[in-house]
Amino acid sequence: MARVPVKLVKWNDIVEWSRGLAKLIIESGYKPSIIIAVARGGYVPARLLADFLGVENMISIQSQHWTEAAKAAEKAILKFPFRVDLRGYKALLVDDIIDTGETVLLAKRYIENEWKPDELRVAALQWISPIAKLKPDYYYLEVKEWVWFQYPWTRLEDTMQFINRMLRETAKEKGVKEFTYEEIKSLCREWYNIEVEDFYYREALDMLLKKGILVKRGNKYIVVINS
Ligand code: ADE
Repeated sequence: MARVPVKLVKWNDIVEWSRGLAKLIIESGYKPSIIIAVARGGYVPARLLADFLGVENMISIQSQHWTEAAKAAEKAILKFPFRVDLRGYKALLVDDIIDTGETVLLAKRYIENEWKPDELRVAALQWISPIAKLKPDYYYLEVKEWVWFQYPWTRLEDTMQFINRMLRETAKEKGVKEFTYEEIKSLCREWYNIEVEDFYYREALDMLLKKGILVKRGNKYIVVINS
């Protein structure tokens, strides 16, 4: 796993971007009567948009990537394909980011065909324009080069995955399998160029211990290699 480029997104950024996005929607004259959050990434931006746009009705749909045998063969699936009648509603489908666009496209098609709102538009905080198969009707930031945005709502999950990959790679490349807490933190800084609050490293490491991915001996975290 290569060292992916990462950008840390702060809570304040999210509020600012959501406000900016709400403004674009208002200026366009579109007045949604229901907001649909794409779970899970769209929840927080969708809730903020509901606040800034004064929309009371909210619902969500979980569209996500399903890892088949290999990571490369990912395809989007709807986790709970329930039905609801949205005839008479003007809907706004909201996600945090349109990356490949596959998850949102799947949700959009399903909603149009099965929920049948009078109108459905798509909004996202960020749109990775060179990659995405879908251009949202509204976006706040266009991203020209792919980056992993470390959003506040995946801080722990991401930290855990970053640590796991980083330690595994280091064990493979350098043969070093034992790390202190401070070494892990400084490796994280070096690999991902971001720094999160201390408790995220602590909790991520506790989770990796609980999962049996790491074991602790004295003050060292040791990578468990399953061959
Ligand atoms: N989810 C899908 N693509 C993403 C990206 N580039 N950054 C953060 N979250 C994502």
